[in-house]
This record gives sequence, C-alpha cells and structure tokens, in this order.
Amino acid sequence: MPDDKDLILKNIWYLALAGEHLRKGELVHRQVANHRIVFGRDLAGKAFSLKDNCPHRGVPLSSGHVLDNGNIQCCYHGWEFDADGVCKNIPALPPDTKADISKIRAWKFPVAEINNTIWVYIPEKLTPNIEVKEPIPDLHLTPDQKFLHVESIVMPTNIDHSVIGLIDPAHVTFVHQSWFWRSAKSLKLKIKNFEPTPRGFKMVRHAPSTNSKGYKVLKGDVSTEIFFDIPGNRLEHISVGKRHKVISITTLTPIDDNSTELNQFFYSSIALTRWLWWPLKGLGKKFIGQDVDVFHKLAKGLENDPTLMLVGEPDAQARWYYELKKHWKTAQEQGTEFRNPLKSETLRWVT
Ligand code: FES
Ligand SMILES: [Fe+2]
Repeated sequence: MPDDKDLILKNIWYLALAGEHLRKGELVHRQVANHRIVFGRDLAGKAFSLKDNCPHRGVPLSSGHVLDNGNIQCCYHGWEFDADGVCKNIPALPPDTKADISKIRAWKFPVAEINNTIWVYIPEKLTPNIEVKEPIPDLHLTPDQKFLHVESIVMPTNIDHSVIGLIDPAHVTFVHQSWFWRSAKSLKLKIKNFEPTPRGFKMVRHAPSTNSKGYKVLKGDVSTEIFFDIPGNRLEHISVGKRHKVISITTLTPIDDNSTELNQFFYSSIALTRWLWWPLKGLGKKFIGQDVDVFHKLAKGLENDPTLMLVGEPDAQARWYYELKKHWKTAQEQGTEFRNPLKSETLRWVT
C-alpha cells in the first residue's frame, strides 16, 4: 500500500454536515481536513463558513453568537462579522475612529448546500479569496427523492483506511455477518462490472445477490447501482419496482490525519417511506456500528506500524482509490484537468 504523505486531497469539496444540523441563529463548529471551521446561516437561511478564529485574537468564532442583524459576534471583545467574514463593528472603538474596519476579515471557505447536505471546499492554500476550481458533487438525486434521515459517527482511522473500509467487499462476510443478514455458509462467487465515472467508478446496475438478505427488506424487483467518487463519497441507488428508489449516500470527511467522520444519508421517493423506513434505518445503523467496531480494532493494530498489502480482485477497488488520488494530486500540481485513469473492468470475489 502506498505510504501517502499527502493523505488529504485538496481543492475538493468535503461533506461538512447535514443541513438539518445547522439551524438559523446557531453556530456550529466542525473540523474538516485539519481546518477548524465555523458554520452558520445568514438571515435568508443561506449557509456560510468561516475559519473558526476571530481575526482579533483568535478566539473561536463558534464560541460567539448570532445577532438579530445576522452578524456573528465574537465572545471576547464583541467584534462583529457578516456571513462573508467582513468586520462590521468593533464596539470598543470610539465613534470618531479613523480605523477602516471593513478591511478586517475572517477568512471564508466556499460552502454549498444540496439536498440537505452542506459541503465545504478545502483549498490547497488558505487565502482570503479562495477560488473554487471544482464543481460540487453530483448526488444524482431527482426532486421526488426526499431526504429521510442522517446518521453520523467518527471513525478512529485516517481517510484512506476509512475509504477502503467503505468500498472493500471482502470484510462484509466477516464484519456484517449476522443471523438476519447473511451467513458464512452461504458464500457465493460475485461477478460485478465496473465503469469509470468523472471522479471515480461505479458498480453497474445489477440485481443484488440472493445471499444479501438486507435487500429483501425491499420487496419486489430490486436492483442497485453503486457510485464511488473521490474524496470519499459512496452513493447507492436502489431501484424498487419500476418507479421507486431508495438512495443511501455515505460520505467520509477527514477530521485530521487520524480520524474521519462518516455520514450516512437516506433518501427515497415518498411512497416508499411508510413501510420501508424503520427496517432500513435499523440496518444502516447496525452496519455502521459493525464497521466502527472493527475500525477501533484496526486503529489499535495500526499503532504497531504494520506493513500492509492489497491483494487480488477483492482489493482492486482500494487500488483504484489510490490511483484516483495519485492522478488528482498530479493534476493539481501541474494545473491540468483531472483525467480518470480507470478503465471498465469486471471484478470477482467470494462473499
Ligand atoms: S478575540 Fe474576537 S473580538 Fe477580540
Ligand atoms: Fe462495512
């Protein structure tokens, strides 16, 4: 496995938090890719994000509060900033001051909100005016597919181990095995077709295996298509019958070099929600819990600095992930457009 010194990709969007976790009038702190960031909403409800330090003496802006005029007020000396980070008021300055406070700015991160997900753009270099070079992720959602639920949890592993755990088929038999889900006795050879996408790859639409009992919660004709995009987004689109879809979106956001936040969002066309919702939510939660359990064991193992390997077709997606990262970094360094190096391929594994 590559020893990736540049663990965290830059000039790319990361999921910061669920839209419903950022209420108007509140400030929320998140650490994304080693940056401490404060998130808020302006008077119109539009999300914004600033470096979580007051430009005066560095107190976290998230420790302050939102005023009725929509400005953020720092808790230390009461300086006020608008959603663009521009200083609007320094209460202690005398009225006849000559100081031009509009030159004082808290640095702003580009932020975008789509389908109840809030994304923040992490640049290569933090500058007062960050230029966005990449489009926000395409969640492939249609207007009838409504947000249902989000589950968030912190993984004690870096972004690479977390991503590999997300796209690794071989652990499923051992980590997600349970009496209602699947049994080691029912192992099957799986043959899956993959195609490259603009930022990653997808497992082409197929009927789930008969030993994947989780899909049986969904009655009827079920097929699934799974997308993976860098930096760490997995989208599963499950079709049920001709008209309905259940979508699960799992995002991985590096907090720092040793921990990663996982968010799992569910969407569905409305008619499905009534009868499907509870078993699906339960399954999602159970799965994440099983992953986190094994990730705690993995983190312990990694403390001993082991040598690691990726072997054969079950680990091919992990190799693709590293390949995508390498090409992303090269494109960034050379200022060229990212070109996906992957080709269409069929992979086989036993799970
Ligand atoms: S540190 Fe924020 S106002 Fe002084
Ligand atoms: Fe898993």
